[in-house]
Amino acid sequence: MKIAVFVSGGGTNLQAIIDNIKSGFLSDVEISLVVASNQDAYALTRAAENNIPSVVLSKKAFENNDAWDMEVVAKVKESGAELIVLAGYLSLLGPKLVHEFSNRIINIHPALIPSFCGAGMYGIRPHEAVLKRGVKVSGATVHFVNENYDEGPIIMQKAVDVLPDDTPEVLQKRIMKECEQVILPATIKKIAEGKVVIENNIAKVIN
Ligand code: GAR
Repeated sequence: MKIAVFVSGGGTNLQAIIDNIKSGFLSDVEISLVVASNQDAYALTRAAENNIPSVVLSKKAFENNDAWDMEVVAKVKESGAELIVLAGYLSLLGPKLVHEFSNRIINIHPALIPSFCGAGMYGIRPHEAVLKRGVKVSGATVHFVNENYDEGPIIMQKAVDVLPDDTPEVLQKRIMKECEQVILPATIKKIAEGKVVIENNIAKVIN
């Protein structure tokens, strides 16, 4: 299965996918395109180092959002990708892309949805909010993407304890390593195997 990975920043999740392809865990998966929302994303370097085609499609470079949306759809289709993986992608997707790839876009969110999600909750912010609220567990969620932020069917979640001495940065690192980099490749594998089905807006993962 060919996938397109959308990125905006460091690309540790992209790296986890690359590493899992190399190790053979994702044996039937190929990254046919990396789409970056900005040219400074370090994820682009990771793509280049692994000979993965990439393109920068920044909204600002287009006349309007529709033109940008159409170009994103065109580039993803051209790459042959069947699944879009949002791996730290911080732009809201265009309606045409969401429509054309209905139930074929997944996102990794750095908290346990439905807590600490929605508009404005990205990057370090969910971890700051978690510590401020004093919750005792947090984690990550992989879910399908629909028109609304973080509201599509949940596919996988993984939790870790929030520790008394955690700072947002320390908690973020633990969740990236122990949750995100585990459940994102695991979800891609299940989808590639045809083992994720959606029934009544609930995603079911078949063992
Ligand atoms: C990750 O923690 C990801 O969960 C988060 O951005 C970070 C990107 O890291 N995504 C969101 O906040 C989306 N709402 P990466 O570029 O190193 O993979």
